[in-house]
Amino acid sequence: MIEQPTALVTGASRGIGRAIALELATQGYAIAVNYMRSRKGADEVVQQISAAGGHAVAVQGDVGRREDRDAMVDQTLERFGRIDLLVNNAGITSPGRKDLLEATEDSWDLVFDTNLKGAFFLAQRAAREMVSLIAAGSISRGTIVNVSSISAYAVSTNRVDYCIAKAGLQMMTWQLASRLAEEKIRVYEICPGVIASDMTAPVTEKYDKLIAEGLSPIRRWGQPEDVAKAVATVASDAFPFSTGDRINVDGGFHIRRL
Ligand SMILES: NC(=O)c1ccc[n+]([C@@H]2O[C@H](COP(=O)([O-])OP(=O)(O)OC[C@H]3O[C@@H](n4cnc5c(N)ncnc54)[C@H](OP(=O)(O)O)[C@@H]3O)[C@@H](O)[C@H]2O)c1
Repeated sequence: MIEQPTALVTGASRGIGRAIALELATQGYAIAVNYMRSRKGADEVVQQISAAGGHAVAVQGDVGRREDRDAMVDQTLERFGRIDLLVNNAGITSPGRKDLLEATEDSWDLVFDTNLKGAFFLAQRAAREMVSLIAAGSISRGTIVNVSSISAYAVSTNRVDYCIAKAGLQMMTWQLASRLAEEKIRVYEICPGVIASDMTAPVTEKYDKLIAEGLSPIRRWGQPEDVAKAVATVASDAFPFSTGDRINVDGGFHIRRL
């Protein structure tokens, strides 16, 4: 078993997940870099971590599929012998961004499988492993971090499934935090605002304008590294008496203003 704490980061081949993996590696974690399609991106993240003297492995898998979720946890344990931190970051936007009146069940199923159901059952599986590892004295505690969105409470009528799934992540975080506290596992929700990534690239112009007009008090795009710092901080020993919290990484977007 590796001496360093180990983190499984889903959707770590690009964007926010990539930044989270790199930041956690800097903080001394060994990293399981999950990807679904972007093998090259995941390999680059692994290479970057290894070149800096860290430990990382790429683990392929669709978080929406049970066998894949099991395989990614199994591979993490095979490689590092432990799992201290799960970051449920993988997510997709609503395919086609269809208006509420045109929204389809296929889109709903895909978005929910990826963004909510997959995250819950991966957390369940990881938590079971953490409980065993803690009981065996192999790790002292566990952490689960769920990456939600300002879409959990801000309506977009062309992304209904995405918004509802993200809203569900808050209750999921509370459920897990409530049950797992006695198991020495703390759970947090990170709630990003508008972050520059492939996901927001198609709507750059729209957000450039909104940000310039004061969408958030801090008038700039969020960067993946902003989210990564928040994840690393809640996973550290900085908040030993906190669990179930939502941490906003949104430039103050959540503040209601007149
Ligand atoms: N960007 C924003 O403004 C923003 C704001 C709030 C919240 N978020 C949330 O932050 C998270 C990351 O977003 P991002 O902007 O970094 O997105 P992104 O650039 O589109 O990257 C998405 C990542 O998720 C992975 N992924 C997608 N479906 C997957 C699946 N079924 N199984 C495993 N991995 C999967 C992708 O892997 P492959 O490429 O390997 O397939 C990729 O690594 C998402 O949960 C998103 O909802 C983003």
